[in-house]
Amino acid sequence: MRVLVVGSGAREHALCWAIAASPLLTKLWCAPGNPGIATVASCVPIGVMDFPQLVAFAQDNEIDLVVPGPEAPLVAGLTDAMEAGGIPCCGPTAAAAQLEGSKTFTKDIAEAAGIPTAKWERFEDAEAARGFVRRRGAPIVVKADGLAAGKGVVVAETEAQALAAIDAMMDDRVFGDSGAAVVIEECLFGEEVSLFALCDGETALLLGSAQDHKRVGDGDTGPNTGGMGCYSPVPAFPPALEHAAFERVIRPALAEMARRGMPFRGFLFAGLMLTADGAKLIEFNARFGDPECEVLLLKLKSDLLPALQAACDGELRDFDLRWHDKAAVAVVMAARGYPEAPESGSVIRGLDEAGTVPNVTVFHAGTKADADGTVRAAGGRVLTVSATGATIAEARNAAYRAVAAIDWPEGFCRKDIGWRALGRS
Ligand code: AMP
Ligand code: GLY
Repeated sequence: MRVLVVGSGAREHALCWAIAASPLLTKLWCAPGNPGIATVASCVPIGVMDFPQLVAFAQDNEIDLVVPGPEAPLVAGLTDAMEAGGIPCCGPTAAAAQLEGSKTFTKDIAEAAGIPTAKWERFEDAEAARGFVRRRGAPIVVKADGLAAGKGVVVAETEAQALAAIDAMMDDRVFGDSGAAVVIEECLFGEEVSLFALCDGETALLLGSAQDHKRVGDGDTGPNTGGMGCYSPVPAFPPALEHAAFERVIRPALAEMARRGMPFRGFLFAGLMLTADGAKLIEFNARFGDPECEVLLLKLKSDLLPALQAACDGELRDFDLRWHDKAAVAVVMAARGYPEAPESGSVIRGLDEAGTVPNVTVFHAGTKADADGTVRAAGGRVLTVSATGATIAEARNAAYRAVAAIDWPEGFCRKDIGWRALGRS
């Protein structure tokens, strides 16, 4: 098979790493990729939103399967563009990717499918939204309706914070048109987990779950990020609860999407809150999680590529994936200043040494390489250091041993990835 992965993060590096191991693979490309991905795939300098060029490249190179990583091209119709060009693409259409692209759409699906979620209301009028917040009081959650690069959610502890969020989103349009409408919802309390399935439009295959660490600082302090590290399995979400959430959240969503004539294909990611009343849906994403992908793929025993092809071909019904019975931990290394203003250009040394730590794989995200091979930081999240072990503690120790081998004074990471899991045991 000739495969094209689209994206340039550590998630896409992990996808490429897994696909490159497949005996079914003839050749692997990644657009645009990064220096880490370049060790397992041929990188093509085409941006993820440049659909005409991506489609032309796929046609010229007789690509058998496109595997998209990030949400923005999916929401904008990458899968539709590939299909129109006759290229199979293992991702949701733009219509199906509304599950991530529109909070209102997701809430609508959740309601129609009976999926447990926070009570909510949608407002297109800022004054009405403010009135609702004043009536309900805090804590309360304010969300920009559209995509806002993971920043469009304010969990307001006070009424004033909620009102300020409405001003910023609706009046000042800090997220552009994504703030034309807001969703205001009940605040849920509990531990968060990310649950994943691979879908073919009709059948969903459980990929497992992981717990991310969204705040930038140790002890869950500081601003939200794309995710600073994660681990799997999640002790707070044992197999029985995972299975129940799969049946109550993933399956009904898939059925409702099919019923509406927009069958969902590709990776489906349910962000859940484990409340006292059971798991409740916070959001859907139409893609694999990052860094969740970098732990779950380390646990996958089966070949990923035939599963992706089966998802694309609507043949997951009789498919099975096997998993290693071990734990995995990922520690994200970010450039100083992340998430507000990451500094670019600093030199990263010691990557080879880190890669020799047993059971560790280092995935690249925002890196670039000089002509002489020197690797530099070129983004916010720069590396994901992933490790496996018999237990979370073992995997975490291996990951931090590799982090210690990386000589990058301008980078930082959280030192407490897995603290909730370790606190339980
Ligand atoms: P989202 O972009 O929807 O994932 O939201 C970002 C973060 O906001 C989530 O990971 C949660 O930590 C938090 N959040 C979102 N919705 C709620 C809610 N209804 N109650 C409590 N926290 C929430
Ligand atoms: N790690 C959370 C996400 O991928 O959105």
